[in-house]
This record gives sequence, C-alpha cells and structure tokens, in this order.
Amino acid sequence: MEVHPAVVGLLLLSCFATASYAHNVHLSTLNVSLIVTASATTGQVLKAGVDNLTITWAFNPNLRLSDSNYTTVEAKLCYGPVSQTGRDDRKTDDNLDFDETCPIDITDAPYKRSNNTYTWAIPKNTTSATYFVRVYVVKANKHETAYGQTTDANKTTNLFQIDGIVSEQKESAAWPVIGNSFGYGYAWLLMLILIL
Ligand SMILES: *[C@@H]1O[C@H](CO)[C@@H](O)[C@H](O)[C@H]1NC(C)=O
Ligand SMILES: *[C@@H]1O[C@H](CO)[C@@H](O)[C@H](O)[C@H]1NC(C)=O
Ligand SMILES: *[C@@H]1O[C@H](CO)[C@@H](O)[C@H](O)[C@H]1NC(C)=O
Ligand SMILES: *[C@@H]1O[C@H](CO)[C@@H](O)[C@H](O)[C@H]1NC(C)=O
Ligand SMILES: *[C@@H]1O[C@H](CO)[C@@H](O)[C@H](O)[C@H]1NC(C)=O
Ligand SMILES: *[C@@H]1O[C@H](CO)[C@@H](O)[C@H](O)[C@H]1NC(C)=O
Repeated sequence: MEVHPAVVGLLLLSCFATASYAHNVHLSTLNVSLIVTASATTGQVLKAGVDNLTITWAFNPNLRLSDSNYTTVEAKLCYGPVSQTGRDDRKTDDNLDFDETCPIDITDAPYKRSNNTYTWAIPKNTTSATYFVRVYVVKANKHETAYGQTTDANKTTNLFQIDGIVSEQKESAAWPVIGNSFGYGYAWLLMLILIL
C-alpha cells in the first residue's frame, strides 16, 4: 500500500499537536468573571527597571457565576493590538495553546475572591511596547476557566506603555530571529556588563 508523504506528515503533526498542546482551551468560552485593574493610566509610559505596576483583581459577584472550582490565578502582561501588528510571534489566537498575546508572567497566586493586590517591579528586560494586564483563573486540572483584563473586549481602552532598554525597532530590524528566541535583552545586559 502506498501512503502519500503528506498524509504521514499530517499524522506526525497531529501526534505532535496532541502531545504538546493537550489543553485546547478557547478564550471565547471562558467566563469573564474577574474585575482587574492596573495602576497605569491610559497612555502612561512606565519605565522598565524603574517603575512598579500595581494590579488588583476580584471576582465579580454580579454575574451570579460559581467560583467553586477556581484554584489559582495567573496574572500576565499582554501586548496591545498596536504592538502586535506585523508580529506573528505575538499573534492573538482564540485557542490559548497558540495564543501569543500574553507572554510575560507577572505573578501566580492561589485564588481568593476579593482583596487581591500585587505590586510588580517591571523587569529591566521588558520589551518596549503597548500593553494591558490579563488575569486567568485556573482550575485544579490546570485548565483556564475564567479571566478578567484591564482593557475592554476589543482591547481599545486603558492601554499603557512600557519603555524598556529593548526597543521594538532595534529588536525586529537587527535581530529578526535571534532577538525573538533568546531575548535581545540579554545581549544588551552582556554589553553593559562588558563595558562596566
Ligand atoms: C517600586 O517599589 C519599590 C519597592 O517597594 C520601591 O523601592 C520603589 O521606590 C518603587 N519605585 C517607584 C518608581 O515608585
Ligand atoms: C461559566 O460559569 C458557569 C456558571 O457558573 C459554569 O456553568 C460554566 O461551566 C463556566 N464556564 C467555564 C468555561 O468554566
Ligand atoms: C466543578 O468541577 C466538578 C468536577 O469536575 C464539576 O462536576 C462541576 O460541574 C464544576 N462546577 C462548576 C461550577 O463548573
Ligand atoms: C485586605 O488585605 C489587607 C492586607 O492583607 C488586610 O489588611 C485587609 O483586612 C483585607 N481586607 C479584606 C476585606 O479582606
Ligand atoms: C527577563 O529576564 C527574566 C529572568 O532572567 C526571564 O525569566 C524573562 O523571560 C525575561 N523577560 C523577557 C521579556 O525577556
Ligand atoms: C468590538 O468591535 C466590534 C467590531 O468592530 C464591534 O461590533 C463590537 O461592538 C465591539 N465590542 C465592544 C465590547 O466594544
């Protein structure tokens, strides 16, 4: 029996996909049950390595949802649409296994219904870009089950900027591949250390 190479490739690909991406959770199916705020005002420019970002989150009781299965939360820093343009490595995908919107972890914490505050010292190596904050709720099985974010559904409001030593232009122009995989920040830090 002859098997077309494309079929083999597809089979291999689907095995790989099942093995490494088993969660298959879609953002659009999650309950938007958290109210999330960040201390940054619209358009504010925060300095990486200098400024702090204070975030708060709480369950929204008005939605009459159950939070009985909520175990932990993950707060993340996410790219605003303007910083995703032309960047496939930052693309938004409803399937969270493939979503690249929120690559930076701010903090993880046990789920608590209210009174959650976290002050994040913005790391020096944070890339210059426009951002918002999203907090995911995770169940015991490690699957996301709900979330909340500081911007609206279309990601147009309450966006802020972070000014880092890793400039967006330099990163994409000079280091299209290496910059993305290793973090251009390391190169800068190394250079600084060598100079000093
Ligand atoms: C950020 O927080 C740290 C630790 O609380 C504090 O020392 C520092 O002054 C804060 N930075 C700014 C710019 O407020
Ligand atoms: C959303 O909340 C409802 C009511 O609590 C619940 O039945 C449903 O399973 C939740 N959806 C997800 C994805 O957790
Ligand atoms: C919580 O998890 C249990 C067990 O998986 C499930 O039966 C129940 O429907 C879940 N409750 C909610 C509100 O999602
Ligand atoms: C919120 O947390 C602060 C600091 O941990 C505590 O002093 C305060 O009592 C808490 N408030 C509520 C309503 O739980
Ligand atoms: C910044 O550095 C930390 C620790 O070295 C690393 O875990 C993190 O991924 C880096 N962040 C970026 C955006 O490169
Ligand atoms: C988001 O944008 C779409 C299309 O531009 C619009 O139909 C929808 O009302 C917007 N939703 C919100 C929450 O602003």
